[in-house]
Amino acid sequence: MTDRTNINNLKQRVLIVDDELEYCLSMKDLFEESGFSCSHSTDPDMVLDLLKSCEIDIILLDLKMPRMSGIDLLKKIRVYNSRIPVIIVSGHIDIETTVQAMQIGAMNVLKKPVRFSSMLEEISCILKPHSEVSDTLLPLVSDSPIICSHKGMLDIIYSLKKVAETNAPVLITGESGTGKELIADEIHRLSQRSDKKFVKLNCASLPESLLESELFGHKKGAFTGADKDRPGRFNTAHKGSMFLDEMGDMSLMIQAKLLRVLQDSQVTALGADEPKSVDVRIITATNKNLQQMMSDGTFREDLYYRLSVVHFELPPLRERKGDILLLAEAFREQACREYGRQIRGFDSEVENLLLSHLWPGNIRELKNCVQRSVIFCENDLISIEDLPAQYKDIPSRGWSDEYERAIDNINKELIEEALRKSQGKKTMAAELLNMDRKTLYNKMKKLNIRD
Ligand SMILES: Nc1ncnc2c1ncn2[C@@H]1O[C@H](COP(=O)(O)OP(=O)(O)OP(=O)(O)O)[C@@H](O)[C@H]1O
Ligand SMILES: [Mg+2]
Repeated sequence: MTDRTNINNLKQRVLIVDDELEYCLSMKDLFEESGFSCSHSTDPDMVLDLLKSCEIDIILLDLKMPRMSGIDLLKKIRVYNSRIPVIIVSGHIDIETTVQAMQIGAMNVLKKPVRFSSMLEEISCILKPHSEVSDTLLPLVSDSPIICSHKGMLDIIYSLKKVAETNAPVLITGESGTGKELIADEIHRLSQRSDKKFVKLNCASLPESLLESELFGHKKGAFTGADKDRPGRFNTAHKGSMFLDEMGDMSLMIQAKLLRVLQDSQVTALGADEPKSVDVRIITATNKNLQQMMSDGTFREDLYYRLSVVHFELPPLRERKGDILLLAEAFREQACREYGRQIRGFDSEVENLLLSHLWPGNIRELKNCVQRSVIFCENDLISIEDLPAQYKDIPSRGWSDEYERAIDNINKELIEEALRKSQGKKTMAAELLNMDRKTLYNKMKKLNIRD
């Protein structure tokens, strides 16, 4: 990666992706005169390599390029790095593409020609809020396996590195399949304990007595069948981290023993006289409502406060709609690699269905759905027929009313602006909007726009 002490690298770097070399070069001059570093590429296929080889702060992306559309390239960029800001700059903006681009996480869509001063303003606005934190975030950004663009999730990811560096216990809550274990893995991976053991135990998978000896260990003869000494998982995890999954299923008796470990950093094996010191970082997860359990008396309040020094609540997928297509795209690429298939994407009917489904099984369900679709896909684009049976029966709910209204508003603004620019001449306005006259008439009628 780039050497950040080099004065040149303190400048923010813009990447311009446009098939017109002239445009790239003139923009490059303007950006460099304004104090930015600037790279350009006229070949969409080269962009990922460029992103891998140098640190880019923002990308300006054309839509219409030979071989690969800006939208397809944006999807690829998002799979590689879900956070780098991208602005679409194109001469041909239509509503569907604008909406699609925003859904895949474009920060804005600008119509060429754009005044350079407005572009600079836009870029400074986007880059400013992150500039203070970007130094600590950047190392995380490119190699994190966590894909997201949702604000709440990004906040969590941005804080992971800081949290990982401490030994504070972390509690991760959220519905099934929201990525709790993935976050736990990241905390261990980013911590200084990463070269030590990361022991995982599912508290719901064992009956109380077995869980007890599994966690704390036992001495020979401690109970019938204990024919030799056995170290517990806490001993195995010494100097490393431990992930206790389904924490809400732990009995009150084991909760009490665990509390003692957290208080004294000491573990007493079953049947042992002396406790042993352990140094273990504890990460716990549950999809149960611990607040409710505390008021019901089934979860100890004192333990809760010990475990939740840092608490991450992961939002369900239905509340992070912006992540759905990003994740689907990443899982498609992953599955294609794994199963040796060449499938370039999802048709728009499938995309609408993915966006409108409520995903009760969250990201795990989406991953499963995409993997199976890749296996059964007959062509190079996943269509409704390729989805597992349960999804084929869901009628696509299409856009919500709110969404339709937002699209209508954008449409109306664009058309009115084109009519103003063309001084009311519809042929010219239609040309500016990249649509035929008839479509323009129909849209004007639908949107109540007067001549
Ligand atoms: N943000 C994400 N980016 C990429 N993959 C993700 C993301 N979140 C979850 N996944 C994937 O989704 C699957 C489910 O995630 P995980 O096992 O971490 O969920 P969980 O919350 O622990 O579920 P459960 O409550 O059922 O144990 C895993 O394959 C994981 O890699
Ligand atoms: Mg889990």
